[in-house]
Amino acid sequence: MFRRPPGWPAVLVDGPIVLRPYRRSDATAWSEIRRANQGWLSPWESHLPGSWDEVNSPVAFRFVHADLRRSARTGEGMPFAVCLREEGRERLVGHVNVGSIVRRAFCSGYVGYWVDSRVAGRGVIPTAVALAVDHAFGPGGLHRIEVNIRPENTPSRRVVEKLGFREEAYHVRYMHIDGAWRDHIGYAMTSEEVAAEGGLLARWHRVRDS
Ligand SMILES: CC(C)(COP(=O)(O)OP(=O)(O)OC[C@H]1O[C@@H](n2cnc3c(N)ncnc32)[C@H](O)[C@@H]1OP(=O)(O)O)[C@@H](O)C(=O)NCCC(=O)NCCS
Repeated sequence: MFRRPPGWPAVLVDGPIVLRPYRRSDATAWSEIRRANQGWLSPWESHLPGSWDEVNSPVAFRFVHADLRRSARTGEGMPFAVCLREEGRERLVGHVNVGSIVRRAFCSGYVGYWVDSRVAGRGVIPTAVALAVDHAFGPGGLHRIEVNIRPENTPSRRVVEKLGFREEAYHVRYMHIDGAWRDHIGYAMTSEEVAAEGGLLARWHRVRDS
């Protein structure tokens, strides 16, 4: 019998920010954002062979979507579309995935994210990551979340620093991005640390509103 993986599917909401599973109908919006943000996203992401426009076309989204759905179905990922509700309508603005989930004695996963540059600096991704981590540690049953970031990526490092992730590793030539093997700083957080804060979203609200 088919059993749903812990914590999936889910819709998570904090104010105007909504995290939900991707839909096939996201193809046009996803492709428009990804194509408009090539210079913003490409220094920080690995991507498939092919031009940026090809791998971010509405047709390519079908494959991306199928891959994300498969990972969610097998319990290896929790891939959320990040949406913003404004002026009575909800639009796709970014992405947060809890990926590479390993259970048994690890119960760990890696978080990856991006946001449309047109809404950057508004705290969308810290809110989205806080929602996803609380969910992963709660209904998702995970114990540890890691984030790996290129040292040069100051905005992304600010996201994890504001959320209170611990810097705990330096991975030399860790991932092939933008044409070369790139070093990454490893950040992590465990469910005990988050529980001590009353949840990551609660912590983020305190930091944001202070
Ligand atoms: C990293 C990223 C997801 C942050 O998302 P966000 O929703 O803008 O996050 P925040 O609003 O908390 O802003 C984070 C930092 O970005 C910087 N920032 C703020 N406004 C900005 C803008 N308009 N443009 C660029 N950077 C900006 C600031 O340093 C800010 O830190 P601060 O709050 O201490 O001032 C986003 O910059 C992004 O998508 N970058 C490209 C892809 C990427 O790096 N993904 C992560 C790979 S590890």
